[in-house]
Amino acid sequence: MTSPDFVSADGSPLAVYLALPAGDAPMLVHRAIRPESTILELGSGPGRLTRALVALGHDVTAVDDSPEMLAHVTGADCVAADAFELDLGRTFDVVLAASTLINRPGAEHRARLLEVASRHLRDGGSFIVERFEPGWLLSATDTAEECGPVRMVFEAGAITGSVRSAAMTYHLGGRSWRQEFDAEDLPDAVLEAEAAAVGLVVTRHLDDAGSWVGLTHR
Ligand SMILES: C[S@@+](CC[C@H](N)C(=O)[O-])C[C@H]1O[C@@H](n2cnc3c(N)ncnc32)[C@H](O)[C@@H]1O
Repeated sequence: MTSPDFVSADGSPLAVYLALPAGDAPMLVHRAIRPESTILELGSGPGRLTRALVALGHDVTAVDDSPEMLAHVTGADCVAADAFELDLGRTFDVVLAASTLINRPGAEHRARLLEVASRHLRDGGSFIVERFEPGWLLSATDTAEECGPVRMVFEAGAITGSVRSAAMTYHLGGRSWRQEFDAEDLPDAVLEAEAAAVGLVVTRHLDDAGSWVGLTHR
């Protein structure tokens, strides 16, 4: 089993993602899709959402580029691969991209992720994506919040165009990890236009903030 000290290439600490509660996300996704859906989950980490979706009756294939993260996933098929380059040669009822993967800066990255979703969805399938609430990145200030046993401290850095540089420090059990990242604001109009280019249509927001979006493959 992977050392609890492991940190993935994107700076996500394994120990933190093992400790964080799944919160409302699995039920939000579950309510938006059909029972017993096949789900391709991109960037699953050690299975925080995976486990709950499996328990809700779905058949999940978990993808992460860290085998060390996947070693902790239970109840799902696992694929160690870059989610932005994935081609499994099969389709699913649902593709799920949580954890703001879609906010990776650059239209070329979004296009690749949208293409991956489109390629892996059956006709009429759903792409469920979690993004930063539109506008939030550009107005964000320093914040701190408790998520289960984890204290999360967000530091807002510089803004360049629609991209925010930021850092998240996670505190858990006397230890701390600092993850620096850049994230690009993604308004509805941009998502709708870029999704349309790969045959995906934005159909609804799953939450009031518009952080969770459902798209359909036509
Ligand atoms: C912040 S963690 C979140 C994990 C999980 N989605 C959750 O909500 O608990 C992000 C995960 O995405 C993975 N990841 C980041 N970029 C990726 C990529 N290009 N392809 C596959 N996995 C990626 C990381 O290895 C990490 O496990």
